[in-house]
Amino acid sequence: PADAARDAMSRLVVDVPDYPQPGVVFKDITPLLSDHAGFAAVIGALGDAGRDGSGAVVVDKVVGMEARGFILAAPVALALGIGFVPVRKAGKLPRPTHAVSYSLEYGDATLEVHQDAIAPGERVLLIDDVLATGGTVAATRELVEACGGTCVGVAVLMELSFLPGRTAVGDLPVSAITTV
Ligand code: PRP
Repeated sequence: PADAARDAMSRLVVDVPDYPQPGVVFKDITPLLSDHAGFAAVIGALGDAGRDGSGAVVVDKVVGMEARGFILAAPVALALGIGFVPVRKAGKLPRPTHAVSYSLEYGDATLEVHQDAIAPGERVLLIDDVLATGGTVAATRELVEACGGTCVGVAVLMELSFLPGRTAVGDLPVSAITTV
């Protein structure tokens, strides 16, 4: 499954030079999402981060981060037979939330989760498309812990090795289908 996922990504993730600004190469995953076999392969590989060596599911919830994380985390949750929890940008969730703010290159960002979305003691797998600086994952981990849950790992399609994402997430195990 890991090989099929890597192969799908190499065929179907498209490099877009100079987007959204000059000098940046954007990784467009939309061709991967629109290919059933490719999408299924990466969902299977991401879900393996929530299983033990015998294939048993060892997590209670899958958390996805707005917006591209939602597209990946929801099918992983269904495949594992567990619930999906959205972590959203500020102001989008209607009931009481925990909120964490973190610094971006320019300015700040705030992420929120519903306080009752994760029960105390639940084991949580984080899913996103890209691990870059690690700020999104670090903030999300704080949100899970504010609910009383425990993050057991983060699974991403791509890890950007030229950014300190792995350092920023501390001791949280990272599974990346590809490293670029
Ligand atoms: C991107 C990406 C990750 C995050 C990774 O999301 O989808 O969530 O940045 O970056 P980091 O490791 O430096 O935190 P973005 O904020 O662009 O949101 P979007 O998915 O809504 O476009």
